[in-house]
Amino acid sequence: MTAVPSGKVTVATLRALKARGERTVFVTAYDYPTAVFAERAGVDMILVGDSAAMTMMGMPNTLGIGMEEMSVFTRSVCRAISRAFVVGDLPFLSYQPSDEAAVRNAGHFVQLGCDAVKCEGGARVARRVRAMVSAGISVMGHLGLTPQSLGPLSGYRVQGKSRFAADQIVEDGRALEDAGAFAILLEAMPAETAAYVREQLDVLVYGIGAGPHVDGQLVISHDILGTFAGEIAPRFVRPYARIGADIQAAFRAYAEDVRAGRFPGPQECYALDPTDEAEIREARARLCRGRSAERAP
Ligand code: KIV
Repeated sequence: MTAVPSGKVTVATLRALKARGERTVFVTAYDYPTAVFAERAGVDMILVGDSAAMTMMGMPNTLGIGMEEMSVFTRSVCRAISRAFVVGDLPFLSYQPSDEAAVRNAGHFVQLGCDAVKCEGGARVARRVRAMVSAGISVMGHLGLTPQSLGPLSGYRVQGKSRFAADQIVEDGRALEDAGAFAILLEAMPAETAAYVREQLDVLVYGIGAGPHVDGQLVISHDILGTFAGEIAPRFVRPYARIGADIQAAFRAYAEDVRAGRFPGPQECYALDPTDEAEIREARARLCRGRSAERAP
């Protein structure tokens, strides 16, 4: 088993991991118990992703979630975390409209306990990134498949599949780096493209579905735990547990026990003092006899 570095994870810790050639472990979490278990397992970084729209709220994509819902998820995760580095994901329309909106909403996540925020896009959001960084907020960029731009990307498609597309991602990465982003997340692209992008940037580069040549791996916790109730199953997901199936089996077994009168059993019932129990039984029997007498013709 590899040792988990102790102490609060900061941007400096993440850079030190990269300098030592160690890979950073990055997962999503949206609720208190998942964050507690991730922290206990020694995960380095947690993304309170806007994927909560799909994983937690059953929406078809991430466009419908806003700051109000994201704040509830973020508050729950931050309450659980003392070591891991927490990144709050800025939802659609929380940073696009203006620098002022970006700083206010990113600042709100920091007030809730996040160490950094993430926003999607390259050169087109560089101005917003600069504004947030100027306000003292650490920002992670997000390139490749950016789910908040499903229309322009024509759906969930692998990105960076040509030399031209790879060069565009590098350009966007440079724009984010120049704007002060401390890290960039690459989503859904060939491993060679991600390596090409990383080698041309100085910032930390993490990947989700972007192969092994990056500074750390992000997964959506529902995907590896087997708790995603939707239909999308990207090829880069490896299941480490089948908790959804276990939950369903537990509910089914419970339902069978309830319907068959097997739950609750004596061991799941509170006991009375034996004298009081005898008296209550007696009283119940009298009530029963009284009711039968009333019903008799
Ligand atoms: O919201 C999220 O979980 C994300 C990942 C898909 C990268 O942004």
